[in-house]
Amino acid sequence: MKILIVGVGYVGLVTGLCLSEFGYQIIFVDKNKEKLDNLKKSKCPFYEPGIDQLLDKHLNETKRINFSSNLSNSMKNIDIVFISVGTPSRRLEDEADLTSVFEVSKEIASNINNYCVIVTKSTVPVGTTRKIKEIISQQINKNKFDVVSNPEFLREGSAINDFMRPDRVIIGTESKKSEEVMKEIYRPLFLKETPIISTSIETAEIIKYASNSFLATKIAFINEVADLCEVSGANVQDVAKAMGLDRRIGSKFLNAGPGYGGSCFPKDVKAFSSTALKAGIKLSIVDAVNNSNKLRPIKIANKISNYYNNELKNVVLTLLGLSFKPNTDDIRDSTSIIIAKELINRGAIVNAYDPKAKYNAQKEINEIKYFDSAYEACYQSNGLIIATEWNEFRGLDLNKIKKILVKPVIFDLRNIYSKKETNLLGIEYFGIGS
Ligand SMILES: NC(=O)c1ccc[n+]([C@@H]2O[C@H](COP(=O)([O-])OP(=O)(O)OC[C@H]3O[C@@H](n4cnc5c(N)ncnc54)[C@H](O)[C@@H]3O)[C@@H](O)[C@H]2O)c1
Repeated sequence: MKILIVGVGYVGLVTGLCLSEFGYQIIFVDKNKEKLDNLKKSKCPFYEPGIDQLLDKHLNETKRINFSSNLSNSMKNIDIVFISVGTPSRRLEDEADLTSVFEVSKEIASNINNYCVIVTKSTVPVGTTRKIKEIISQQINKNKFDVVSNPEFLREGSAINDFMRPDRVIIGTESKKSEEVMKEIYRPLFLKETPIISTSIETAEIIKYASNSFLATKIAFINEVADLCEVSGANVQDVAKAMGLDRRIGSKFLNAGPGYGGSCFPKDVKAFSSTALKAGIKLSIVDAVNNSNKLRPIKIANKISNYYNNELKNVVLTLLGLSFKPNTDDIRDSTSIIIAKELINRGAIVNAYDPKAKYNAQKEINEIKYFDSAYEACYQSNGLIIATEWNEFRGLDLNKIKKILVKPVIFDLRNIYSKKETNLLGIEYFGIGS
């Protein structure tokens, strides 16, 4: 089977490389030529654990992968096309921007020669895959293709493992033929007893948004509980741990912090609600989650600012972690960056260090002073903010930090240290929810 992947980002590249591991021949297409030039030289455009090795293996050893910027030329003898282009929020709106999805669908349509399955891997609102079908059937006969919704659930930072060992694979189809093709593609996972769930196309599309919105709800919920814990002398970590032991609730996504960020949750929560509203359904819980999470980093910035009597002018603050989560260099909608901007707007000088996200952050915000180690970023600083729980921040030499900081205070937005251990060293400590 010959597979084409359109959109070589976090999802497209991981999907293609993992399918190549299964033995398939892959052509990757992207409109970003610089990205493709780097990939052809075995240089991955982003940081993701394990991806460099897979890229090198399939580019240079198995030679199962090829890169191209020409979608039309790449369609020859293709059996399956995965569309994995970005679907960001529209500027100033909550809806998903489907421009790229429809653009590539048109181009695919003009170049189908043999029977082909067109798969939406991108996260798209319910009804989108059917629109793609309409677009394609304007150009070619309906029996020459099928459309499928196959949403992706991988997480940046553990993307390869997530793709190779998913909790489930969702295949939304409307024909037996395309369902069989998809099942064949995922056979190696089926053999590892991964649940492969066949649904309608619309159901598959909604599963993705409902899943992300539900996880976002857990985060927003525990963050509000954390606020209550803070004013009532309770400890949110103990609350979350005890809640999580209830198997009906589960322990994941109950870590209180600065709010959810990243390239998926914020935009997907908004798009889920706006798609529903267009269909006449108000998702009031999802709206509340979105509103609560939008306020979260501002609340955190207020809390930090209050500590300095709301006089942040020329106060130097050190920010550890710029990516929206550890083990990725992705800073899209990172709460860390939102907090940094908020503090800078109030007059603070922000020194920052991140193990991998410096380059991306520099492109987005140049008012931050960037450093190459956590300790360098702490010199002459009036306080330390731990914003992303990279492993290397868990093992900081706190004695050294205390000596370097002008004022030894830590705002630990990820609860990776404790009040007890830091206070013992003479460091003031503010965690979340206690
Ligand atoms: N990143 C994640 O963790 C994740 C997880 C699950 C699902 N998703 C979804 O997968 C989709 C892709 O996300 P991503 O993070 O990989 O995005 P990304 O921004 O990393 O990559 C998208 C790629 O598509 C390319 N592209 C855009 N328009 C194109 C066009 N017309 N022709 C060819 N290439 C084009 C871009 O150049 C870019 O390389 C989104 O819908 C996202 O919501 C993402």
